Amino acid sequence: MFSDRVLSGMRPTGRMHIGHYHGALKNWVRLQEEYECLFFAADWHALTTHYDSAERIADSVWEMFVDWLAAGINPSRATLFIQSRVPEHAELTLLLGMITPVGWLERVPTYKDQQQKLVDRDLSNFGFLGYPVMMSADILIYRANMVPVGEDQVSHIEVTRELARRFNFVYGREAGFEEKAQAAVKKLGAKKARRYNELRTTFQEKGETDALEAARDLLNETQNLSLGDRERLFGYLEGSRRVILPEPQPLLTETPRVPGLDGQKMSKSYDNAIMMREEPADVTRKIRTMQTDPARVRRNDPGNPLKCPVWGLHLVYSDEPTRAWVMQGCTTAGIGCLDCKQPVIDAIIREQQPIRERAQRYLDDPSLVRNIVADGCERARKLAEETMRDVRDAMGLDYT
Ligand code: TRP
Ligand code: SF4
Repeated sequence: MFSDRVLSGMRPTGRMHIGHYHGALKNWVRLQEEYECLFFAADWHALTTHYDSAERIADSVWEMFVDWLAAGINPSRATLFIQSRVPEHAELTLLLGMITPVGWLERVPTYKDQQQKLVDRDLSNFGFLGYPVMMSADILIYRANMVPVGEDQVSHIEVTRELARRFNFVYGREAGFEEKAQAAVKKLGAKKARRYNELRTTFQEKGETDALEAARDLLNETQNLSLGDRERLFGYLEGSRRVILPEPQPLLTETPRVPGLDGQKMSKSYDNAIMMREEPADVTRKIRTMQTDPARVRRNDPGNPLKCPVWGLHLVYSDEPTRAWVMQGCTTAGIGCLDCKQPVIDAIIREQQPIRERAQRYLDDPSLVRNIVADGCERARKLAEETMRDVRDAMGLDYT
């Protein structure tokens, strides 16, 4: 526990588009090389807004997993699972709900935003208000410390951090904490104990967060501690409570924004998306007919790439010389829009070739995906069950 663990989830929306690929999946593929990773389909989250079309969710989950695997998520490195197959998420959601002030939830920016945006649905339900509590449980139940998400999710991670702090404050109390913590320090061995104490003092007296980080690293590298001592040593760094649920960090990676065919955000519901496994002929057709700078009506009208969604695709797919060629050619009417679009078409088709090939294996034999996910659910459930035993115990709900 408390080691570098990455967790992220997505609502099941079916087949993925290239916005998902560049915005999230490519990053996940990189992260799996370096960290223990857990990636899940947030099927209960889909219900918070789409409770009335539940029958579509399962198909969407399987389609989404095929595309994750096609993107290069490696099931022998990352754990892939479905939220509802790990019912402990619901238990932790319920328990966290007890210490969640309703005001926190009403103030989450996405709450009012989404209610205003999704006018066609009634979002005055309890589940939707409680969404950030469920998301917090998703993260805290794996004691994940890194959560790769988009900008729009950062306020939810902030709720998660506050809930973790509050949980530890309320349930991390124990009689004789100070003595128990000091006994645990001794168990680190003379050298590490001295280092731990130094770092703790530096953090507490000077507020140096580097020292706090270094102390946490030291604990992470220490294998032979009991769970209780580990919780005490993490907690003792900052205060007088055990850290049962560590606070996660959002992992904000600079990812290019892939514009949709009409220049708006790419989304299946706007019908402006290029799918990750689009047929090459369809890629060609979609790009060739996509919008350009409206000022370029005729071939010899000069244009401005900054007013053209195709430019956004060049920023994702083209190298510097190609971009310079576009900039020069567009503003002088030296090239036509179809000339300009061709390198993008070629790059997308090239990028998708290995993705299509990997997907084919899973489409030919869907049992491969089922087995990968069944294994993942089992692994995730073990981890979640471990945390829940500890959580119940801290709350006094242990009846064994
Ligand atoms: N809320 C996220 C989204 O809509 C999905 C999600 C649910 C999630 N639980 C999570 C992401 C936990 C990261 C960690 O995109
Ligand atoms: Fe857009 Fe390229 Fe046409 Fe310029 S030349 S308007 S950048 S498609």
